[in-house]
Amino acid sequence: MTDRNQSEIRSNAIITAIGSYVPERILTNADLEKLVDTSDEWIVQRTGIQERHIASDHQFTSHLCFAAVQDMMERYNKDVTDIDYIIVATSTPDAVFPSVASQVQSHFGIENCGSVDLQAACAGFTAAIQLANGLLVSGAYRKVLVIGAETLSKVTDYSDRTTCILFGDGAGAFLMEASGSGSGNVLHMYSKTDGARGHQLYRSSLASAIGDHVIQPNGLIVQNGREVYRWAVSHVAEGVKQLMTRSSLSAADIDWFIPHSANMRIIEALCERTGFSLDQTLSSIKLFGNTSAASIPLAIDGAVKAGTIKQDQLMLLYGFGGGLTQAGIIIRWSL
Ligand code: UT7
Repeated sequence: MTDRNQSEIRSNAIITAIGSYVPERILTNADLEKLVDTSDEWIVQRTGIQERHIASDHQFTSHLCFAAVQDMMERYNKDVTDIDYIIVATSTPDAVFPSVASQVQSHFGIENCGSVDLQAACAGFTAAIQLANGLLVSGAYRKVLVIGAETLSKVTDYSDRTTCILFGDGAGAFLMEASGSGSGNVLHMYSKTDGARGHQLYRSSLASAIGDHVIQPNGLIVQNGREVYRWAVSHVAEGVKQLMTRSSLSAADIDWFIPHSANMRIIEALCERTGFSLDQTLSSIKLFGNTSAASIPLAIDGAVKAGTIKQDQLMLLYGFGGGLTQAGIIIRWSL
């Protein structure tokens, strides 16, 4: 029987530029102490978060995408008008349709270009890279823009202390181009979905139930924190190990581990269970909070700006969250 999650893959996708953006306004733990019954000490101990960036009333996910792409263009001297396809991973699009990706197309005046929003919650950015790799390797497209972007503050219940302390806003972008030589940066991938647990973490829209589970129809993020925590440290750790086993790589072979920045304690537990040290782990949790689809590119871009990531290093990126969904990739950095 063929293993549909087999890890050895074809790739001609080269990451040729990265950019990111977070809104100016900062929401500190001290600010949250004024909104709900919480404390800086509790938040730092339980989550590792010190502050998050919050979009202004007039700033939506598309605006964060424009700024991240602009940052990428300026730093890498890249033209985006010849992009073939745009994928925006987000759970907080400005509107259900038109897509955020189509607004990025319009903003930058990209003439011949496909566009789609991808909804895989906190696994969105890594899922989008998996799909972008497929588009490039098919030969249909040569230049794909992948963005992870969120304005979670607009769908956060600031009267619920168990969720409002976690979330922040931001955006990160990768430009992926087909290589002439045929060998790409995306080396291995793994995905898993556990839809039966979907009701543990959701943002409602049309329906008032997920499966047999009645949900709160208020359009805000609702989560059973303890259950999602348990799932993350057991099932996600198992997924990371699966990706390494199928790639015949161990934590010692990989230079950087970049799990979704859900909570510092989850990251520590994942490291403990998978053999990664905290020194080889990158996150964006401390200063940006949980930014869902944006958390992985924000963590990587922070390290790129600091000069921490070197050419040819191996990186394991692992997104997980609402769905409940996991998507992991191992890439070789060549920027
Ligand atoms: O990105 C998508 C995936 N999402 C996640 O991965 C989130 C997963 N879950 C978590 O990160 C954690 O479960 C939370 C940060 C949400 C909560 O941390 P916890 O250590 O699991 O706390 P808990 O839910 O077990 O609650 C412990 C206590 C409770 O009080 P009692 O019942 O022991 O008296 C809570 O009511 O902490 C209380 N609590 C708070 N206290 C102060 C919950 N939130 C707060 C708060 N401030 N903000």
